[in-house]
Amino acid sequence: MEIRFIANTAPKAKVPANELRFGTTFTDHMFVMKYSPENGWHDAEIRPYGPLSLDPSAMVFHYAQEIFEGLKAYRTSENGEIYLFRPEKNFERMNQSCDRMCIPRFDGDEVLDALEKLIKIDADWIPTAPGTSLYIRPFIIATDSHVGVHPSGHYLFVIILSPVGSYFKEGLKPVKIYVETEYTRAARGGTGMAKCGGNYAASLIGQQKAEKLNYSQVLWLDGQEHKYVEEVGAMNVFFKIDGTIVTPALDGSILPGITRRSVLEFLRYKGYKVEERALPIDELMQAANSGRLEEAWGTGTAAVISPIGELNRDGNACVINNNAIGPVSQMLYDELTGIQWGLKDDPFGWRHTVK
Ligand code: PLP
Ligand code: COI
Repeated sequence: MEIRFIANTAPKAKVPANELRFGTTFTDHMFVMKYSPENGWHDAEIRPYGPLSLDPSAMVFHYAQEIFEGLKAYRTSENGEIYLFRPEKNFERMNQSCDRMCIPRFDGDEVLDALEKLIKIDADWIPTAPGTSLYIRPFIIATDSHVGVHPSGHYLFVIILSPVGSYFKEGLKPVKIYVETEYTRAARGGTGMAKCGGNYAASLIGQQKAEKLNYSQVLWLDGQEHKYVEEVGAMNVFFKIDGTIVTPALDGSILPGITRRSVLEFLRYKGYKVEERALPIDELMQAANSGRLEEAWGTGTAAVISPIGELNRDGNACVINNNAIGPVSQMLYDELTGIQWGLKDDPFGWRHTVK
C-alpha cells in the first residue's frame, strides 16, 4: 500500500509520564484511508493529527455504522525497542466487526504495516515509565451523506495514538464492580461480539448508575434472562472458585478479548484447571458469600489484568480476597506485562517488534 506522508510542522509538547491519564492526549500524526465502491480501500495517508471534516448527514452520526479496535505499543528504557502484542489478532477481530456491521473488509497485513509506519513517525510519544504505553485506536466510520437506513457506500479508516497511564484510577489496586440486574449491554444475535461504538453507548447508563453508587465498573449479565455472567464494560472476567478458574464462554454477545484468549492459553500452558462455560450469577454470588471465590480479575488491553476486590448484586456486597490482589492475578499481570514490555521470555511468539 502506498502511503502519502504529510509531516506535522507544529508538533505539540509531550505530557510528562506522571500526568498521563487514559485517552486524553493524542500524538502529532494520524493514519487515514478512504473506501469507495469504485476504488475499494485507497488514498492512504499519514498526516497531522486534527479534525475530520464530515457532512452533517454522514451516516455514522445517525445510525452508528462504526467499529473500532484497541491495542498498545510498549517500550522500556532498557533497550528502546517498540513492541506490539498480537496485533494481527486485533485486525482479524476488526474484520469480524466489519462483517457484522456491513462494512467492507480490509487487508490486515497492509494496515499493520501502515500502523508500524505511523508508530515510528510518532515514536517519541511512546512513554517508557512503568505502567505506561501508547494506546492505539483504529476505527472505521460510514461517511455517505444520506439519512436512509442502509449500509454506507463510503468509509474512512482512521488510526490515532494516545500515550496512556493506567485505565482505572485505582491502578493495580482491586476495583469494585456493580452487578447490573436491570439494564443489559448485548443480546445473542445482537452486536455484543463486535467492537462497535453502539455497544458502549448502550452501556453508559449502567456505568453511570454504578459510579453514583461508588463502583468503578459494571458486571453485565446476559440479555435474555439476566442469569449468566457476561463481561465488564471494558474487560472480560475470570473467577477462581474452589481452585478452578472459570470464565464465561463466548456465546456471541461477549467480546472475544485478545487478553482473555492469551490468559486462557497461558493458564492452560502452566497447568491450571480452566473452564470456559456459562456461569450463573447465583453460583458466583454463593461462592463469594461462602468464601469459595478465591480471586477475581478482569482482562483487557486498556485494563491489562485488573483485580476485582468487591462484587455487589442488589445491595449484597461481597469482598474478594480481602480486597487484595491475589496470587494468580499478580502472576498473570507480571507474565503478561513482562512479555509485552520485552522483559520476559515470549514462549508463544506473541510479541511483535516494530522494525
Ligand atoms: N470486553 C469489552 C467490552 C472491551 O471493550 C474490551 C476491550 O477491548 C475487552 C472485553 C477486552 O478485549 P481485549 O483483551 O481484546 O482488549
Ligand atoms: C480496550 O481495552 O482497548 C478498550 O477498548 C476498552 C475501552 C477503552 C473501550
